[in-house]
Amino acid sequence: MPQSNLAPINAATRLCAVLGSPIRHSASPAMHNAAYAARGLNWRYLAFEVDPKNLRAAIEGARAMHFAGLNLTVPHKLLAVDMVDELDASAKTWGAVNTIKFAPDSTGKIRAVGFNTDADGLANSLREDLAVELRGAKVLLLGAGGAGRTAALKLAAESVAELFLINRTASKAEEIAGEIRKQFPLVKVTVGYPPAEIDLLLNATSLGLKAGDGSPLDEKQFSLKHTRAVYDMIYQPAETQLLAAAKAAGCPTANGIGMLVQQGAKAFEIWTGQPAPVAVMRRAVEGSVYGV
Ligand code: ATR
Repeated sequence: MPQSNLAPINAATRLCAVLGSPIRHSASPAMHNAAYAARGLNWRYLAFEVDPKNLRAAIEGARAMHFAGLNLTVPHKLLAVDMVDELDASAKTWGAVNTIKFAPDSTGKIRAVGFNTDADGLANSLREDLAVELRGAKVLLLGAGGAGRTAALKLAAESVAELFLINRTASKAEEIAGEIRKQFPLVKVTVGYPPAEIDLLLNATSLGLKAGDGSPLDEKQFSLKHTRAVYDMIYQPAETQLLAAAKAAGCPTANGIGMLVQQGAKAFEIWTGQPAPVAVMRRAVEGSVYGV
């Protein structure tokens, strides 16, 4: 749905925005404005370059001007935890806020509620894009940075049976393994490569983002023939070395564009109360990121 189908801007237009730094390449405005057009909403979504030192002022300004909501991206997700009136369970669990909804309370005062739609975005993308059933699955996760930790805890919360963690700095994988053993004692977690067949290999490292980057998988330790599917959270480039190797091994693959779409779809639903037009949002993101 082209954005030209958007309702004309007038005094009743509702606003949402993403705040971040840098923000110029964000695909979120294309994604959300396409969704508003598809649903016939008189809404607009903008992107603002906001320095961390001005984040509180920007959030308060959006609240004062009756924005419907905000998204937060790098480097604001942790900072925003202390800048909202209330944290939804998702934001409490992940200790980070990527979505704020502004809504009046019973006295008419506008409250800012913080959510985190990133982890659900990953789980929904794994289901939608790779048809992976997470409950009972065996998963090899590469990476133990911010994205890796969220992915590991989300997979455990979704009741995977076994989780194998690999990270360049093994101590960080050990730390996450310890957290999972405490919080999710039914999930079997090992720091190391799987000895047998698995259902999913998931890359949450940043290796593959830059031109010339190699694969985060040591194929001498684990062959791509032994996994049913491979997901790379990186979506730019569309095909990392890991995904190319997985395709060559005959594996179903998906990159992280679906995660971007699904976290946005969840935010759309939080703000509008309507089901998100996911296919429209996906086409808009692909157009913005890949120019297709
Ligand atoms: P993010 O928020 O994207 O997770 P991060 O917290 O900086 O970013 O984490 C980056 C992840 O990619 C880490 O798992 C990192 O490994 P280390 O914990 O050992 O630093 C991994 N990573 C980055 N560059 C890498 C490389 N060249 N080889 C292997 N892993 C790499």
